[in-house]
Amino acid sequence: MNHELSSTTFPPGFLWGTAIGAHQSEGNNTASDWWYREHLPDSPIAERCGDAIDSYHRWPEDLDLAAGAGFKDYRFGIEWSRIEPADGAISHAALDHYRRIVEGAVTRGLRPTVTLHHFTLPLWFAARGGWLAEDAVQRFLGYVDALAPVLEAGVERVMTINEPNIVAVLPKLASSNGDTDLTQGLPVPDEALTKVMIAVHRATVERLRTRHPHLELGWGVSVQDYQADPGAEAAADAYCEPRDQVFLRASKGDDYVGVQTYTRGLISADGTPRLGPDPELTQTGWEFYPPALGGTVRRVARIVGDVPLIVTENGVATSDDTQRIRYTTGALRALRAAMDDGVDVRGYFHWSLLDNWEWGHWGPAFGLVAVDRETFTRTPKPSLTWLGSLAPEA
Ligand code: BGC
Repeated sequence: MNHELSSTTFPPGFLWGTAIGAHQSEGNNTASDWWYREHLPDSPIAERCGDAIDSYHRWPEDLDLAAGAGFKDYRFGIEWSRIEPADGAISHAALDHYRRIVEGAVTRGLRPTVTLHHFTLPLWFAARGGWLAEDAVQRFLGYVDALAPVLEAGVERVMTINEPNIVAVLPKLASSNGDTDLTQGLPVPDEALTKVMIAVHRATVERLRTRHPHLELGWGVSVQDYQADPGAEAAADAYCEPRDQVFLRASKGDDYVGVQTYTRGLISADGTPRLGPDPELTQTGWEFYPPALGGTVRRVARIVGDVPLIVTENGVATSDDTQRIRYTTGALRALRAAMDDGVDVRGYFHWSLLDNWEWGHWGPAFGLVAVDRETFTRTPKPSLTWLGSLAPEA
C-alpha cells in the first residue's frame, strides 16, 4: 500500500474522470417527481434543489474545468423528464441540449459517459405507478430510443441506472427525507422494485447493443465495504445479498460494472452494521475510511466474475479540501493494491466535479470545485488540479 501516486500509478488507457448527476446539478427540473415532492407544502425534503448549480446553462464551464485539470472522462446525466416532459411528448430541444454537451466534451478531449436514470422520474410516469406500472420497461425503452441522436454524437459509455439498489429503497427512504443513511446501513430493497430494476437494465442493455453497438454498457451499484466480524461471514453475506449482491450478479454479460463506494460498515453476527471504533465522520455522518474502495472492489470482483469494474463514484463530503485529498489518496492506493492482486479495474470517476445538491441538503460538499449558490461562480479547490494531474496516459 506504499504507492506514491502519479500519472503512472494507473495503466495507460485507464479511465480518469469526474461524475455529476442531472437533477443534482442542472436546476429547475420542473417536470420531475422530485421537483414535485420538494414543493409539496408538507414536503419531507429538508432543502429544495431549485436552481441546483445551474449546470443546465453552465455546462461549458463545467467541461472546461474538468478538461483543464487534465481529466480524460466525464460522467454526467440525462434527465428523462426533460426529454419527455409529458407522456409521449419528446422534446427535440432537450435532445439537442444533451447532444451539444456530448459534442462539447469530445471537443475538449473528454470521453462522455452518460447516466440514463439517476433517481428522478418524469412526474407523469411516477403518477401512473412509476417503476411498478405494468408497462414501465416499455416506457423507459421509449425514452432510450429517443436518445439515439445524443448517443450517436460521441458517447462512449452508458450507465443505464445509477444505484438500482438505492432506487429500490427510495420508497422506504421517502418517508424520511430521501437521504441514504449509509451510517446505519440500508433498509432491505423492495423485492418488486429489485426485479423491475433488473428487468429495465437487461432490456436497456439489449436494446442499446442492437441499436448502438459501439457503446460500453453497464450500471452503477452502491456498494460499501461491509466487513464481517470474526465468525460473522454468513451474516455479512446475508446482509449484502439483497442490498447489493443480487444487483451485482445481474451485471453478467455487461461490458463493465460500476462500483460506487464511500465508506465501510462492520457487520456483527446478528447482521447489523455499525461504524468502526472512534470513527472520524464526514459531513454526511459516514465513517471516514479511505481504504473502503479497496475492500469493495475485491468483494465485487468475487461476485461478478469476469465483468470488468469501473469505479463510477467515490468521494467524500467535507469542507476541508485537505481531508478530500487525504481520503482520495487512501482510496486510490487501496484501489491500486487490489489491482496488483488481480482485480480487473478499468477506471476511476470521482464524485463529484462540483459541490451540488445532496438529495435534500446543501451542506455536504463533495466537489472538487466550490459553487456560489447565488452567482453560480465556480471556484476550483486544490483537489481539482491534484486529482486531474494523476490522469494516466490516454
Ligand atoms: C449517488 C449520488 C450522491 C452520492 C453521495 C450516490 O449515492 O449516486 O447522487 O450524491 O452518492 O451521497
